[in-house]
Amino acid sequence: MQIKGGRFMVTGGISLIGSHVTEHLLEAGAEEVILFDNYSLGTTDMIAHILKDPKVRLVRGDITRINELYDALDGVDGIFAIAGFLTLPFAANPALGLTVNALGHVNVLEAARYRGVKKVVFSSSVAAYGDPEPGLIDEARPFQFDGLSPPVVLYGATKIIGEQLGRLYSARHGVQSVSLRYSTVYGERQHYRGVNALYIIDTYDKLMAGERPVIPGDGSEVHDYIHVADVARANLMAMDSEVTGESFNVATGTATSLNRLFEIVAGIVGSDLTPEYSAKGGAVRTAVASSLDFSVEKIERMIGWTPTVSIEDGIERLIRWRQSQG
Ligand SMILES: NC(=O)c1ccc[n+]([C@@H]2O[C@H](COP(=O)([O-])OP(=O)(O)OC[C@H]3O[C@@H](n4cnc5c(N)ncnc54)[C@H](O)[C@@H]3O)[C@@H](O)[C@H]2O)c1
Repeated sequence: MQIKGGRFMVTGGISLIGSHVTEHLLEAGAEEVILFDNYSLGTTDMIAHILKDPKVRLVRGDITRINELYDALDGVDGIFAIAGFLTLPFAANPALGLTVNALGHVNVLEAARYRGVKKVVFSSSVAAYGDPEPGLIDEARPFQFDGLSPPVVLYGATKIIGEQLGRLYSARHGVQSVSLRYSTVYGERQHYRGVNALYIIDTYDKLMAGERPVIPGDGSEVHDYIHVADVARANLMAMDSEVTGESFNVATGTATSLNRLFEIVAGIVGSDLTPEYSAKGGAVRTAVASSLDFSVEKIERMIGWTPTVSIEDGIERLIRWRQSQG
């Protein structure tokens, strides 16, 4: 579906990812973008520039209330289904996390079906793999959750449910649906709700306060950090393509250790402090690995997307944004 001239809803529109998707939609010539959010986690503080655009309409609504979706979907061509509870808010309120991530997504698909929306692009997660065995991780890898903490497993399970609902509505009702499995997303307008992106922002905050950041273990733990601009591009390209009923990794394919992350942040802010190492991790730990290799072959082949922002450039962008906030 063509983006130029199209009308789109972004659920969770005021979020980190939703706000970047919105900026990309406006740049690509979308006719209207409806930001549909209940403000439960996000705020509009950082998106005043987006809200000034006459093509943007902010609707305070809840995906757990299907009537609010029906009302707001008049004339919408495509939905970016981004509203959801990440692992940390999920751990704090599992009942609401399950309701929003699983039942909320049925509502989005059901409302799309009855309102004639052509396509839904769903924000899934590599949490759908749980704690995968070492080796190249492509989309056929099964969910392996043995040993993971319950909120991490439950969060991953809700993403699997969301993906399968999308496939069901695609096959049964003709609502095209694509699921994007993001790795750890970070970037400008970074929040404190992502377990693994927290390391970047916590390190920055601590260094700015003249304190030594705490790194769990020996710092060899790795994550695949994907910049939010690349994630937004993947969303638009998935919407634009004719592909349906598929899931794709949206990752860089490059693992970055917590030690390397510290070096990058300290280098950008010019700090000579060293980290403290602690045996104790945060309240909620995701899968911890010292190697991680997500395949992005499928999304490149079927949709034409590849990552473009290096971790060094991406963290620099995030920090310059934070500094510009004062
Ligand atoms: N940030 C990451 O690293 C990451 C990684 C993988 C997947 N994801 C997925 O991407 C999506 C967005 O992530 P983010 O980092 O932008 O999250 P975020 O916490 O910034 O945004 C979630 C948004 O959803 C809204 N929301 C929550 N419940 C709602 C409801 N019932 N109705 C309407 N809006 C509601 C919140 O107010 C918030 O603005 C989530 O679904 C998340 O699971 C994120």
